[in-house]
Amino acid sequence: MNEKQLAGKKAASYIQDGMIVGLGTGSTVYWTILEIARMVKEGMSITGVATSKSTEKLAQEQGIPLSSLENVSTIDLTIDGADELTEDLTLIKGGGGALLREKIIAYHSTHMIVVADSSKYVKKLGTFPLPVEITKFGYLKTLNAIKNMGCTASLRKENDSLFITDNGNYIVDCSFDEICFPTTLHDHLNQIPGVVENGLFIGYATKAIIGQENTITYVEN
Ligand code: A5P
Repeated sequence: MNEKQLAGKKAASYIQDGMIVGLGTGSTVYWTILEIARMVKEGMSITGVATSKSTEKLAQEQGIPLSSLENVSTIDLTIDGADELTEDLTLIKGGGGALLREKIIAYHSTHMIVVADSSKYVKKLGTFPLPVEITKFGYLKTLNAIKNMGCTASLRKENDSLFITDNGNYIVDCSFDEICFPTTLHDHLNQIPGVVENGLFIGYATKAIIGQENTITYVEN
C-alpha cells in the first residue's frame, strides 16, 4: 500500500453505523471512498454528502447512498485530503479546485479528518500555491487586487482554457513565499470583492492521518 492508500483506508475506520459522512475530493480520499463502499456492501448504513461533482460520481458508481447538504441536519464526520498541512492542523486545500464546497461541508461537520501522504506535512504553509476561487465577473480586477497583496498569482488553466469550478467560478493560484500569518491572509483575501473563498482551512480539522512509508502518523488538535 502506498502512503495515500494507507491514510485513506485507515480514516474509514472512524466511521460508525448511521453516520452522515462528508466525502472529500482527491486521490487520497479516493481510497477512503473505496473502503466506505466496501463497508456499505457489508451492511453498514451511512449517508454520504459529496464535496464535488467528481466525488458524487465516484460515490454513486461505488453504491454509496448520498444526500445533499440541504437534506441533512448536520454532518458527523468529514474525511478530506489536503495540499499542505501543519502541526496545528491548518490546511491549504483546493488543488483539485473543490475548495468552496469542501469548506462549506467542513464548516457544517462535527469532526473533520484530513488524510494525506507525508509530503503534505510541512513546517510552514506556502510552498504549494494557495488556491482562491473568484467570480467570473470582474476577474482580471480581482486577480490584480490579489496580486497587490504581495504574491505571484495566475489563473488556473485546464486544456488551454480557464479552469471552471463546480460552482461556475475561476481559480487563482497564489504563490506567497511563506504563509506566516494564515488567519490574517485568509481574512484579507476574503475581503476582496470577487473572492468567493480561499483554500486556507483554519480550525476545521480535528485529526490528520498521514501515511509515512509503511506506517501512519496521527496529528490531533
Ligand atoms: C480538492 O480541491 C483538494 O482540496 C484536495 O482535497 C487536495 O488537493 C488533496 O488532493 P490529493 O489527495 O489528490 O493530493
